[in-house]
Amino acid sequence: MLPWVEKYRPKRLVDIVNQEKALEKVKAWVESWFHGIPKKKALLLAGPPGSGKTTTVYALANEYKFEVIELNASDERTFGKIERYLNAAYTMDVFGRRRKLIFLDEADNIEPSGAKEIAKLIDRARNPIIMSANRYWEVPLEIRNKAEIVEYKRLGQRDILKALFRIVKAEGVFVPKEVLVEIAKRARGDLRAAINDLQNLVSGGTEDAELVLAYRDVEKSIFEALGMIFASDNAKRAKMALMNLDNTPDEVLLWIEENIPYVYYKPEDIARAYEAISRADIYLGRATRTGNYGLWKYAIDMMTAGVAVSGVKKKGFIRFYPPKTLKMLRDTKEERSIRESIVRKIMKEMHMSKLEAIETMQIFE
Ligand SMILES: Nc1ncnc2c1ncn2[C@@H]1O[C@H](COP(=O)(O)OP(=O)(O)O)[C@@H](O)[C@H]1O
Ligand SMILES: [Mg+2]
Repeated sequence: MLPWVEKYRPKRLVDIVNQEKALEKVKAWVESWFHGIPKKKALLLAGPPGSGKTTTVYALANEYKFEVIELNASDERTFGKIERYLNAAYTMDVFGRRRKLIFLDEADNIEPSGAKEIAKLIDRARNPIIMSANRYWEVPLEIRNKAEIVEYKRLGQRDILKALFRIVKAEGVFVPKEVLVEIAKRARGDLRAAINDLQNLVSGGTEDAELVLAYRDVEKSIFEALGMIFASDNAKRAKMALMNLDNTPDEVLLWIEENIPYVYYKPEDIARAYEAISRADIYLGRATRTGNYGLWKYAIDMMTAGVAVSGVKKKGFIRFYPPKTLKMLRDTKEERSIRESIVRKIMKEMHMSKLEAIETMQIFE
């Protein structure tokens, strides 16, 4: 399987997020090459890991039609090869060949002896040279002085979360929002680390205990609530189960809906449960359309108590399953946070007048 860091590496400069200032500098410098050799023949992309430096080089090459000759400073053989690459560097596209762009990754790992060679290369080069480093102050001075430094920012948690959402959506996999937030938090601005964590988690091969735990905790709470909602023949208890949940009513509705066929086995009971769900759905939709969130009270009654008393349940252990689609993955962050804050308020209020809603149960009698 292709690593997701490669699969989702932006091919175009516009898809590199939150590095606008750096990209302006890089583009201006590359374009200056089309009007002769610029004062600084080398660029030093400096910034934290996983912030888009390597991605920039390849997107740039893609857009400006360069062939990238990649050197690795920590690879001994690089220095032996420099002469050969120098010839490449001299070769402009007079033979119809693509222009060469020299890329020296990890310039902060160059040995002093290598530094001399690179400095010479920069002096003689007639093609663009881009270097990258996490710690630009560790790049030997004789090289650093010959390069224009372009700083890359550490990406924010929001940038990372957005990138992760894009990937789960593209892959069509289900990962709870809380887990994505956890991954984004832990990555500390390193998008490569975040994407790798996500891929490990999804492919199940993770040894990252903390992540797995976070994932399980999220599931446990909703699974417990499902157990209480379905196990109860008591409308009040079913409703209470939902109140202590952190999930919004529309999320819970999807969970309940998904699990109806695992709980009931008589067709007429299943039909009754779905009927309750569809009523809940109508109330939820109406609440969202009209802004009358008082209707959520009825929606919650329907999806908990209404479903709980729909018929005869299977005996013994019932395994629950997560819904195949979660609306929360499609909603915008803003919508979700507004909705969540309203939910909290309403749930709090309902908690105080919990007996009230039982009346709506009569519809099934
Ligand atoms: N600013 C960014 N915008 C979009 N994707 C990014 C950005 N920074 C990093 N990535 C993603 O993270 C991964 C590592 O990025 P890379 O450019 O190799 O990081 P580095 O700065 O360490 O060279 C790639 O998959 C890339 O798609
Ligand atoms: Mg890199």
